[in-house]
Amino acid sequence: MTRHISGHRQLIYSLGAVTTAFAILMALQVHPVPAQEVTFAKDVAPILYESCVECHRPNSFAPMSLLTYENARRYASRIRSRVESRSMPPWHVDRTVGIQAYENDYSLTDGEIETIVRWVDDGAPMGDKADIPPLPDLPEGGAWQLENSFGRPPDLIVRSTPYDVIENGQDQWWGPTVPFAGLDEGRWIKAYEFKPSWPLGLRVVHHGHATLRAGGRNIGIAHYGVGKRYETFPDDIGMLFPAGEADVTWSLHYFPVGVGAPQDVVEVGLWFYPEGEKPALETRGEVLMRVDRMGGMPRGGDILIPPHGQQVLQGAHVLDQPTLINSFRPHMHMRGKEMSIEAIYPDGQREVLGKVSDYKHIWQISYQFALDQKPLLPKGTVLLFTSVFDNSAANPLNPDPEQWVVFGRRGVDDMSHMWVGITELEQEEFERLTAERRAKLVSQQGQGGSEKNR
Ligand code: HEC
Repeated sequence: MTRHISGHRQLIYSLGAVTTAFAILMALQVHPVPAQEVTFAKDVAPILYESCVECHRPNSFAPMSLLTYENARRYASRIRSRVESRSMPPWHVDRTVGIQAYENDYSLTDGEIETIVRWVDDGAPMGDKADIPPLPDLPEGGAWQLENSFGRPPDLIVRSTPYDVIENGQDQWWGPTVPFAGLDEGRWIKAYEFKPSWPLGLRVVHHGHATLRAGGRNIGIAHYGVGKRYETFPDDIGMLFPAGEADVTWSLHYFPVGVGAPQDVVEVGLWFYPEGEKPALETRGEVLMRVDRMGGMPRGGDILIPPHGQQVLQGAHVLDQPTLINSFRPHMHMRGKEMSIEAIYPDGQREVLGKVSDYKHIWQISYQFALDQKPLLPKGTVLLFTSVFDNSAANPLNPDPEQWVVFGRRGVDDMSHMWVGITELEQEEFERLTAERRAKLVSQQGQGGSEKNR
C-alpha cells in the first residue's frame, strides 16, 4: 500500500504539481476507497461448505467442525495458514509438472485462498447472516457416501468379520476370508465404496483392501486409505464380478487411537451396471506397482535410509498391452516425500504423467485424471516410478531422524509402491480411443481458433 502511494507521489512530483499531489494524498487518506468487505456469510461459508465440511463436521475424522461461524472464527488463523500453504484441503499434486486436470481435484483456487486470507486478516467478520448459504446436503455419518449420487443403496454389500481394536498400541492387521453365496449371473461393477464403521471405525481403520475370489479369479474390488473411500469408474468402463460361489479376503490395517473399537466390522458396497449391460472396457481397478524390490518380504532389501539421510528409489514396469491410466495413488510411510509416475514411450520419448511432491503418509489420495486426459499408452511403454524418502529433521512427519529406516509394514518402517488405476486395452480399442481423442482435440482447437479470430 505504502509503496503504491509513494509511487504515485514520485510521478506527480515529476510533473511538478506538488500541491495537487498533496491534495490527492490527503484525499486518499481521509477517504480510502473501501475495498468490498469479505465476510463469512457471503464469501467464506460457500468455500468451506464446498471444500472443507465433507471432512470437517461433527463426528468425522477431521479435528474440528467448520459448519458454524463460531468455529470458523475460532480456528481462523490456523485456517489461514493451512490454506495459504495449500496443506488444506489435502491435495498434493505438483503444480509445475505432469498432467494438471483431475476429475476429483478439490483443491482451492488462488482466488479462494485470497478470499480466506483477506477474511482472516480483516478480523474474520460475520457479515449479514442472511447471506449464509443453506447447509450442504451431507450424507449422515455412517451412511454410504455414494448413495445420493446413485439414488439407491449398494446393490451388494460384503462384510469383514468382527475384530477388537485395542485402545493403545502398535499397528494391527486383520485378514479374514469370508465366504458368501455369490451371484447367479456375472455383473459389472460401476462403483465401490469401502465403509469403516462409524464413528469409531473411521478413526482406526488406516487402510484396507478387499479381494474377491469368484469364477476362478482374484479381483481387487475395493481399496481404501484415509482420503480415498470410493471409486466410480467412468461410463463404459467396469469391473467384472463373475458368477458363482465367492469369498472375500480382507486385508485390514488398524491403528489404535486411544479409544478401543470393539467388534469392528468393515463393509464394502458395490453398485452394478444395469442387468444385461456390458461396458465396452474392463478395468482392473487399482493395481499395485512396486518401487521397492521386496516382493512384500520385510527383509534384506533395498529400503535403507540412514539417520538424517535421504534415499531415491526407482521401479519400472513394462506395459505388455495398450493401457488407459485412470488414476494414481502413491504409497509410502512417514519418510516418504515425493513420488512420480512417468511414461517412457516405445520411441524413447518421456513424459511425467503425475507427481506428488508434498507427500504425507496420513493421506492416501487417488488422483483421478480428467476424462479426456487419462493417459492412453501404447504396448511396450515403460512406467517409471520414482520415490524420494527424507529421514531428516526437516521432514515434519518424521518421528525420529536418529533411526535407520528399513522396509516394513508398520508405519515407522517404510514402503514404496503406487496404486495405478488401469484398464488394459486390445490394440483395436486403443486405436479407436486414440483416434477419438485426436478428433476431439482437433475440433476443440478448431473452435478455439475461430473464437480467437472473432
Ligand atoms: C478430505 C478431508 C479434509 C478436507 C476436505 C479438509 N480437511 Fe482440514 N483436516 C483434515 C484432517 C484429517 C486434519 C487433521 C490431520 C492434518 O492436520 O492433516 C485436518 C486438519 C486441518 C486443520 C488443522 C487443525 C488443527 O488442529 O490445527 C485446519 C485449520 C484445517 N484442516 C482446515 C481445513 C480447511 C479450511 C479446509 C477446506 C478449505 C479443509 N481443512 C479441508 C481433513 C480434511
